[in-house]
Amino acid sequence: MRLLPKLLWLLLGLFVLINALGALRYLLPHVPFPAELDNFRQRRTALSLHAFGGAIALLAGPLQFVPRFRESSWNRHRLLGWIYGGAVLLGWCASLGIAPHSETGWIASGGFLALGAAWMVATGLAVRFILRGDAIRHRRWMIRSYALTAAAITLRIYLPLIFAFHWPFLIAYPAIAWLCWIPNALAAEVYLRFVPTPARITLPATLAGSSSQLP
Ligand code: HEM
Repeated sequence: MRLLPKLLWLLLGLFVLINALGALRYLLPHVPFPAELDNFRQRRTALSLHAFGGAIALLAGPLQFVPRFRESSWNRHRLLGWIYGGAVLLGWCASLGIAPHSETGWIASGGFLALGAAWMVATGLAVRFILRGDAIRHRRWMIRSYALTAAAITLRIYLPLIFAFHWPFLIAYPAIAWLCWIPNALAAEVYLRFVPTPARITLPATLAGSSSQLP
């Protein structure tokens, strides 16, 4: 692997670990440094389940995209895939309990609800395509799904900027609820448009279907 992709992978790994461990702290009986959210004070179970699902999805995703890791054990890929899908489902279901009560009101709520809907659609389609043996479309929708999972990372890159630059919270937070994911979704589209798709994805016999190969 060349130096730049390697560095980007390392950076992603670092952000994933920091964000996932940060989210898992919500499972502790005494949460260290909890976010100042009404949702933490009033809907702690939903928030904790959401943080757990999100953390597992963040952790389960990245290695699935590494060909050597994937192809060295299809059973592991499949198991991690189901764990990822289940974690997205849990994270999304729990987010429905907290998103309507997001800080600052309905614009932020709308941003999170739209993100959740896009997350479910992308992940659901990715699962549907692989169950039909269509590895090319599965790959495309999983790239979209993980780009949305990574909204948790972009959100936490933007949030400290609000305080660093003294932006008014009532305006910046709702903006971030949308900006944490729309650029990620667009970046995934740019990636899918300009980085060539492998001409062939070799599947194990049990998964191979009609279009694991590009036309
Ligand atoms: C991609 C779909 C996601 C949606 C729709 C979503 C939605 C939300 C919402 C609505 C809140 C509460 C915000 C508020 O009260 O103002 C929240 C908080 C939180 N979310 Fe997510 N989230 C998503 C992904 C993730 C992921 C992948 C993680 C994994 C790290 C995560 C971890 C957390 C944590 C830890 C909090 C508590 C606040 C904090 O400590 O920063 N979320 N999320």
